Amino acid sequence: MYEYYSPTKILFGDGCLSEAAPRLKDMGATRALLVTGTSSTATSEGFRKLCADLDVAGIRWTHFAEVRADPETSTVDRGAARYLAEGCDSIIGFGGGSPIDCAKGIAASVAEGRSIRDFVGTGLAFTASVPPLVAIPTTAGTGTEVTNAAVFTVVDESGHRSKKGTSSQFYFPCLALVDPLLHASMPPALTAATGMDALTHAIEAYVSRFHTPISDMCCLESIRLIGRSLRTACRPNASGSEPTVEASAASAASGDACAARRDMALAATLAGVALSQAGLGMVHGFAHPVGATTGLAHGLANAILLPFVMEALIPDAGERLSDIGVALTSGALTSSTPTEGALANTSRISPAEAVRAIARLGHDIGIPVNLSAASVPEGAFEAILADALSYRRRKASPRAFTDAELRELLSKMYHGEICTSA
Ligand SMILES: [Fe+2]
Repeated sequence: MYEYYSPTKILFGDGCLSEAAPRLKDMGATRALLVTGTSSTATSEGFRKLCADLDVAGIRWTHFAEVRADPETSTVDRGAARYLAEGCDSIIGFGGGSPIDCAKGIAASVAEGRSIRDFVGTGLAFTASVPPLVAIPTTAGTGTEVTNAAVFTVVDESGHRSKKGTSSQFYFPCLALVDPLLHASMPPALTAATGMDALTHAIEAYVSRFHTPISDMCCLESIRLIGRSLRTACRPNASGSEPTVEASAASAASGDACAARRDMALAATLAGVALSQAGLGMVHGFAHPVGATTGLAHGLANAILLPFVMEALIPDAGERLSDIGVALTSGALTSSTPTEGALANTSRISPAEAVRAIARLGHDIGIPVNLSAASVPEGAFEAILADALSYRRRKASPRAFTDAELRELLSKMYHGEICTSA
């Protein structure tokens, strides 16, 4: 028996941002809280268009632009206070994973009538339905626009920072607008890191002990799309200038880049659907404390750690790792989805080769080979390990790592290197 629950309505395609305001109006919204980061997204062309569309639709809006990477629970509290003070009745998360997660936290807080802090790491369950929540991702990575999860940073009395995941059936946005044109302005390094986050979601969900046939389909297609398009999506544009929405939409020469961005946008969303069903594993178990203690971007941390964890899983998940290798290198398949039949017709790839293929992809898009190369200090080792040992999704890992094995694995992540040659 297995369950599939993914209630978010997805609108996907170039220009679908235009649907945000009319759809919100259909939901009865009259005043929206717009939740964004503090920097470029909030002044982007896409955001200005969203605001103008809301004006035309007669929906008043309030802009909460205080979200930094890995939002602290105190930021969510301020957003919830703003929502209540302004009399809002709906929420739009616009940006990368952090603003959308913050929007989820605000929605849950105002519905529950208490701070999000009460729910993070405490086991307290969410019980209240949230106001209309619309997610508009401007990166192709977290997939949070379709997930039941949100990650927040908790700062305790001693100043210790830890990233804690929370999940709730009420976190599923009612509408996700996935518009690849909004991803056109992502610089290559951000495309690389967020794309590898999506790949990590697909791979961890695929090898998860809680995978299902439905999550498997999403994972394999996500991996195939990423194998086909992440390298292309990471190429700087030929002119060297900042890519714009108009330029990418209008230029025939940018056709490959546009197609690659569409692939990556869909891959991230599919991986989000999968992770909500199947969970994640120890790549995220380590990436969260690496990010919390050192500030390393989430996608970059995952990208560095992924091949090390995959290598450690070879004895327990060899067949599944082989599937991943096939999907990653099967982008030329003409079928729209690498079904089991398509996989069976493709030459098998050994689990070790699959790990090397992932490491090669990381190498090609500029991912550092290990944590030391990413300047993660040795002094953070014990704090990272302590947090990883208590990772709440540890049980989803196909290998029941002992504490000693995780210590050894973290050592390799610091100083080891996965071979990339075939
Ligand atoms: Fe992630």
